[in-house]
Amino acid sequence: MTFLHSAFGIMKMRSAKTLVFYPGANKVTACNFLTRSVFECSSEVIGLLASWDKWASAAEIARDHGWSRSELDAVIPQLLDFSALVTAGSQLAEQESQFSGQWNWGIPTALMHFCVQDSEFMTIEQAEARQIERAGHTVQPDLVLRNSAAAIRLPDALDDNELIALMAQRRTNRTAAAPTITAKQLSDCLFAGMGITGETSNCVGALPLGMTPSGGARNPYEAYVVAPAVEGLEPGVYHYSAVGHDLERISANHLPKVSELVGGQEWADPMPCLVLLCARLDRTMWKYEDANAYRVVLIEAGHIGQNMMLAATRHGLSACPTAALSHSAIKRLLGLGRLTDAPIYALTLSIPETDPRPAAGSIN
Ligand SMILES: Cc1cc2nc3c(=O)[nH]c(=O)nc-3n(C[C@H](O)[C@H](O)[C@H](O)COP(=O)(O)O)c2cc1C
Repeated sequence: MTFLHSAFGIMKMRSAKTLVFYPGANKVTACNFLTRSVFECSSEVIGLLASWDKWASAAEIARDHGWSRSELDAVIPQLLDFSALVTAGSQLAEQESQFSGQWNWGIPTALMHFCVQDSEFMTIEQAEARQIERAGHTVQPDLVLRNSAAAIRLPDALDDNELIALMAQRRTNRTAAAPTITAKQLSDCLFAGMGITGETSNCVGALPLGMTPSGGARNPYEAYVVAPAVEGLEPGVYHYSAVGHDLERISANHLPKVSELVGGQEWADPMPCLVLLCARLDRTMWKYEDANAYRVVLIEAGHIGQNMMLAATRHGLSACPTAALSHSAIKRLLGLGRLTDAPIYALTLSIPETDPRPAAGSIN
């Protein structure tokens, strides 16, 4: 304790800049959204954090704000543990300074974005058990809405329309009937989602135009391919350059099990290929400072994913989309170190078994 006492005496600390507080019954809950640490706070501690907003030692805080050293020494270890306090020069201090330098979309959007990183996902069995339990006491909302008999009947969309017929064939299937897919199949899926097919310009320069719409043509997505078994490709991890329509192997220490990148979903392990869609949020942030642009980026992943799924369907493949991502593992694997690099969506590609078990997944 003497050691701690003297260490805290000189160590410069301050309250975290990424804390959000919300009141509950007789308590205030705090969340550091960068570390996803959630803890309860007394009003005294909130006061302490509010007054400790600049780098200062415990001795200085005790002197300037009327706390006793022993009170401070009792509370500091826990506050450091909760990442309510940050130590000067620490990794967290570095992350915070990246946050204030790079994040333009405000605290509410940051809370949403960072709090869903590396979530824990339920297994299929756990998710089913939860639904069965819930169905026992809470009626499900209607999953479709029907019009009355007076509604205007529209022509059959599937009649004589190859594109719509193809769209109707798309199905999520989490099986792999063959151990590989071909490079051509992968290539077409990548092009369908990400390919660059034109260029426009605005007041500040050229903007790429692609297979899918992009808010402000900011083109925030990059695609990466984890390819354990794509014919003609060395097993490895690749970056797809949409502008060159080419793949470059990126240095990765190892080829992980696919499930390690998608929240532990074991059905993904036999998949020959996983496409990861990672947003470079700064591309969109550069133009749009309002938080709505965050929604724009997420919506774009859906467009890209859908085009990839349709190209996969055309090849007789199934593309299983997943938003259950292991963000940190993906960023480490791909060498994406910036706070504004954001894995958003992923798709496995495989030749599906023809008679699959009913679709099931951690989000289904
Ligand atoms: C945004 C999004 C996220 C999804 N995430 C997962 C997932 O994490 N794991 C999974 O197995 N399936 C996932 N799916 C697939 C759905 O479970 C699937 O689309 C749904 O069961 C309907 O089946 P269908 O795609 O064949 O129409 C996701 C689908 C979407 C659109």
